[in-house]
This record gives sequence, structure tokens and C-alpha cells, in this order.
Amino acid sequence: MSNLRIGLPSKGRLSDLASELLKEAGIKFRRQNRSLFAKVSDLPIEIIFLRTDDIPVLCAEGAIDMGITGSDLVAEAQADVQTRLSLGVGKCRLAVCVPETMEIDSPAKLNGLRIATSFTNVTKNYLQQHDAEAHVVPLTGSVEIMITLGIADAIVDLVETGSTLAANRLKISHEIGNYETILIQNQQKRHPELADRIVRRLEGVVIARGYSLLEYNIPKNQLAQAEEITPGFKSPTITSLEDSEWCAVRVMVKTKQVTSVMDQLEELGASAILETPINNCRL
Ligand code: PRP
Repeated sequence: MSNLRIGLPSKGRLSDLASELLKEAGIKFRRQNRSLFAKVSDLPIEIIFLRTDDIPVLCAEGAIDMGITGSDLVAEAQADVQTRLSLGVGKCRLAVCVPETMEIDSPAKLNGLRIATSFTNVTKNYLQQHDAEAHVVPLTGSVEIMITLGIADAIVDLVETGSTLAANRLKISHEIGNYETILIQNQQKRHPELADRIVRRLEGVVIARGYSLLEYNIPKNQLAQAEEITPGFKSPTITSLEDSEWCAVRVMVKTKQVTSVMDQLEELGASAILETPINNCRL
């Protein structure tokens, strides 16, 4: 049987993120001069570089076994693929957006309007669910200027920070869904063991990126309260210290919460509180 094929975005921010993630998971390859193909060293895997929006369809059709793409693009392509893992990056919302001065108090009020979007399928489904009939203008980009150009009354577009909307004097009227970067797999599941190993490896890197290892000493009579502050991923590791009234705790804490957790532990009487980054993990 041929090698397992993974489709990665060929350019842009997602291309760099995906390549970095695979490399951190020990799936190493060298892409030569914008070549569309690379061989992974040590594993029977080929990397194919593709347009991000083609990856869902190519995975559903079996041209690639797995792929990294946006869940928004999978929804829009209505691709029959399995989502294996959320990669913790590329989080965004798809929303109906209107001029700052316009009020649309319910999605049904979109009835009769012209809506420009590159997400025509998702938009049509949304309108149908809300019993609204609108004229959907299909585009592939620069959707945010279409109201100014006079060809749409509203748009459906991705919103990440909101700065594109603000720059174009638009606002969110209604949210359609939340999306992020995901790892998908073809339903035939060729090379199942290797595919599962890729999932486990990537999962280890994704979890490690979100957590830090926190170590601290705490008086035993405060341990129960400390454990409430730091319950850990599964449960904290407790070891005894020479001073029988104290113990040491090792626990995973969400990196974003580490400083506030350290404040709370210190207030409780903990000492020698140390944060260490986690490079990789298997839980
Ligand atoms: C997306 C989207 C918006 C922008 C939103 O475009 O279409 O234009 O990001 O991000 P913000 O809320 O942080 O401003 P992207 O940069 O992915 O390129 P595209 O125009 O090719 O879709």
C-alpha cells in the first residue's frame, strides 16, 4: 500500500503553523523551493501542499488521507471527513455583519437583503434555518468592501480580532458559528495505526502548548484548598517533604492562568512556586 498522505496548506500563516506543529510532533520533512510534495524522514508519510480550501474536498475524495485545514472550510465544502483533533489555533467566528448604523434585530429580518460572502453554503443553510430568503452574492475575497461598493446590504465573513470590521465601519449583527484549525481524516481510514500515532503525537504537542508545569511546597493543612486551585489535568502529584508538616505538589496548569494561580497559591501559604514550560506530553 502507498504511503500515508497528509495535506498541508501550501502558503500563508496556516502553512507555517501546520508545518511547525508537525515538526514539533517529530514528523520532519524538508520542502524544497515551494515544491508541492515532501517526504517525511523515518516514517512512511508524504506531505502534499495544497490550497487550504481544497483540503476538505481532497480529503473526502481520498486524494489525501489526512489534512490540516479550517473547520469553516470543511463546513462550507460540506465534506464528508472525520475531525480527529482541534489544533488550538486559528479560532474565529463566522458572522453576519452589517453597517454600524444598521439594526437587524433578528436573522429573519435578513429577508430580501443582498448578502455577499465566500461562505455561500453555510450562509444559505443559516438563512433557511431562520426562514429568511436573501440574495446571496458568491465571492472569493475582499467581502468587507462589498457594502461600500453597493452590491450588498450585509456580508457574512470571518471575524478574528474585529479590526477588519472596524476599519470598514461594520459590526457583527448575528454569529453563525465558531471555527478553528483542525486535523481531518478520510472516512476510509487507510493506515489506521499510523494515522492514530499522528493524532497522538499532535495531541501531545497541542496540550503541551496550552499548559505549564507548576511545582510548589504547601503546608499539609492547606493542601485541600491548594488542590482546589490547581486540580491538574487529571490529578496533581503529591510528594512528602522532610518537614512532615509540608508537602510538594506537581501539577499541570493552563499557561494563561499561571500568574493568577501563583498569586492565589502564595496567598494560601505556598512557597518555592516554580513554573516550567512543557515541550511535549502524553497523558
Ligand atoms: C479573514 C476574514 C476577514 C479577516 C478578519 O481574512 O475574511 O477579512 O480575516 O480578521 P480580523 O477580525 O482579525 O480583522 P484573511 O486574512 O484570512 O484573508 P482572506 O481575505 O483571504 O479571507
